Amino acid sequence: MNILGIETSCDETSAAVVSDGAKILSNVILSQIDLHAPYGGVVPEIASRSHVKFLTQVIEEALTESGLAWGDIDAVAATYGPGLSSSIMIGLSAAKALSLKLNKPFIGIDHIRAHIYSVFLGEDTPSLEETYPFAALVVSGGHTLFFRVDEDGEHLLGQTIDDAAGEAFDKAANLLGLSYPGGPVIDKISKEGDRTYVEFPRIKIKPGGQMLGGLDHEMCTSFSGLKTALMYYLKKNPLADGDSKRTADIAASFQEAIIDVLLDRAEKAVEGLDHFVVGGGVSLNSRLRERLGEMAESRGVQLLLAQPKHCGDNAAMIAGYAGAGKGITGEEAMHLDATPNINYAKHS
Ligand code: KG4
Ligand code: ZN
Repeated sequence: MNILGIETSCDETSAAVVSDGAKILSNVILSQIDLHAPYGGVVPEIASRSHVKFLTQVIEEALTESGLAWGDIDAVAATYGPGLSSSIMIGLSAAKALSLKLNKPFIGIDHIRAHIYSVFLGEDTPSLEETYPFAALVVSGGHTLFFRVDEDGEHLLGQTIDDAAGEAFDKAANLLGLSYPGGPVIDKISKEGDRTYVEFPRIKIKPGGQMLGGLDHEMCTSFSGLKTALMYYLKKNPLADGDSKRTADIAASFQEAIIDVLLDRAEKAVEGLDHFVVGGGVSLNSRLRERLGEMAESRGVQLLLAQPKHCGDNAAMIAGYAGAGKGITGEEAMHLDATPNINYAKHS
């Protein structure tokens, strides 16, 4: 079963061919970071225009690299949400059109569920089925979601009530005068920084608020106050130009505050389970990986991290998840609209 996957939900134009849900024959990813960097964030109009411009080229490259011919493709899968609707639409429409042209099924894929699946890509990895039940964290520029995953699906345990963790990294980098995207830069300079330099808040959420939508307040996260705390700290204690030592100390302190919060929720999510799965762009963070590793070791839990090349947005996770028999198929799939927001609390 060879599936062509397409991913255009944000600022990566990607196409991949995956065989039997795990064997990656190709995974072409065209990043738009350079286009968005001058604006300090993703500009939706620029993102969708760039998808239109490059998607066909990226798809052709993915097919060529896979060594297969069009006739070998058994199905076409694409992200239908969540993400930027104007970006999703490009990949979704292209995938539907391709499936009609090839006379092969179209499979609509939920981007977040595919991020969870990214740890199962590759041939030497455990299968999804043999890992059930497990806890999962998807942590990216747009999402911070904790799930319990079993045969019946993904059950939402907690999510951010405001900014996502990656968004907090990006906004902090902006305040510190660092480049976009902020996560990798903060990760890098924090290695030289003092994590105890500033005591930033580890924000706890009060029970019963409307924002929680019935979720356990102790499983949800809030990072917007942390960003505000950094803003006030810098107003009171401005950074001198070129003070790279202090910049590193503040960055390391900020990073540790985010990671402390994620670790606290991770420990609760994995209670009673043997596996913890982590995917999404922020899971590239070296300090987060280190802390998760320590947590897993001390609790006797198996930690499954996506390979670095599969942490960010990529089409291999889309094609892989479809190949694992997941996603929306049939008439329903052909009628799928771009869905910028998916309410995981409702789906659980
Ligand atoms: O999953 P992703 O590529 O795109 C989506 O948001 O869906 O994640 C991008 C996010 C950005 O916010 C970026 O700053 C963050 O992941 N990121 C990191 C690191 N690498 C990327 N955050 C912390 N440490 C990193 N090493
Ligand atoms: Zn993503």
